[in-house]
Amino acid sequence: MKLRGYIAALLMACSLTSLAVAQSGTMRATGSAKYVPQLGDLMNSIQTRHIKLLFAGKAQNWGLAAYELGQLKAGLVEAAVMYEGIPVSNVTTMTAPIQSIDEAIAAKDGRRFAKLFSELTAGCNGCHQSMDRGYIVMRVPTEQPFSNQVFPPQGKP
Ligand code: HEC
Repeated sequence: MKLRGYIAALLMACSLTSLAVAQSGTMRATGSAKYVPQLGDLMNSIQTRHIKLLFAGKAQNWGLAAYELGQLKAGLVEAAVMYEGIPVSNVTTMTAPIQSIDEAIAAKDGRRFAKLFSELTAGCNGCHQSMDRGYIVMRVPTEQPFSNQVFPPQGKP
């Protein structure tokens, strides 16, 4: 448990400067009946944040990008805390690209954002490979599947 706490602390120490609001979803303690999501389900939501992050950045919607990055990071923290089998190094290697993307978002630097997004994606695959999940291959998405959400910043011509 000590080790898990350490990993979570490491990830959380990479505080996101551009994310002004704290996590809005507070978990209510419900005694022993605490919901523990499967790792695959956590990863599915991380996948969603990964794709939304890219299209928020592409649309220069930096507020949304910061939000999605925060959600992605929170998902990884949860995975590290809940699942003992995840190697420490694979989680900690994600902190560098996450921190850099956060800086690119704060600087509204679209070019740097795109470059770092590839690095982040390589980090996903690095862990999948090292954990015998080499068949789960992530890539930089080309199409935006969420037609029910608006990605460009609103209030712009
Ligand atoms: C620290 C290790 C690690 C990192 C980092 C990681 N993953 Fe995973 N991922 C896993 C493991 C382990 C599984 C398989 C889970 C299982 O077997 O239930 C998985 C599964 C998945 C799946 C398959 C889910 C499904 O059920 O179809 C997707 C999609 C995925 N990861 C996306 C990502 C993305 C996107 C990133 C990067 C932003 C990422 N992962 C980073 C370890 C990792």
